[in-house]
Amino acid sequence: MLHLGILISGRGSNMESILKAIKRQKIPINPAVVISNNPGAIGLKIAQNMGIKTAVVESRGFTGNRWDYDKKIIQVLSEHGVTEKNGLVCLAGFMRIISPEFIRKYKNRMLNIHPAILPSFPGLHAQRQALEYGAKYSGCTVHFVDEGVDTGPIILQAAVKVKDDDTEETLSKRILAKEHAIYPQAVKLFAEGRIKTFGRRTKVKSRGR
Ligand code: GAR
Repeated sequence: MLHLGILISGRGSNMESILKAIKRQKIPINPAVVISNNPGAIGLKIAQNMGIKTAVVESRGFTGNRWDYDKKIIQVLSEHGVTEKNGLVCLAGFMRIISPEFIRKYKNRMLNIHPAILPSFPGLHAQRQALEYGAKYSGCTVHFVDEGVDTGPIILQAAVKVKDDDTEETLSKRILAKEHAIYPQAVKLFAEGRIKTFGRRTKVKSRGR
């Protein structure tokens, strides 16, 4: 059985959409633990109310380096069975840069959601970047995490039309609705062993092949 660890920092709406989909769609993965770097993350309460184990590895005030911090996260993941052998780690609004050591350990087993059609608008405030650039379409991307910022192999994307009167808030809201659709879908494909990676490209195997 695959074990899932979700890393969050705040609201946790993507986390919630994944946890709900696992239950509803009977996705073959055990939602083992939700970890936050922020003890005040609302997502922690949501997870607890859904009966999922949670943990906090506080990053504020942590004096070690990035890898020292990530080792603490890996420790918690491992305690819940989310290992490099049979784990999947989903970053869901986890607002920290991950160390290369952590990424290498979970190579092809760590997913991220980003609120833009990558490779456009990586990094922070992707929705604001799209508006400021004058893009007519934006959207969201689920990708494997590699050592760059939002650069890993793309698994799924969904597009959203940018309206003339969009604000950062209205655009973010429409993109978020798409995020909630494609992130659970990517977790399902992963759990079913249907994502094949060829260098930078991924392909989804159809069922039964
Ligand atoms: C989501 O919009 C996610 O795409 C974004 O943070 C939000 C988290 O919301 N992530 C990034 O910008 C990562 N670069 P959530 O906590 O409600 O899932």
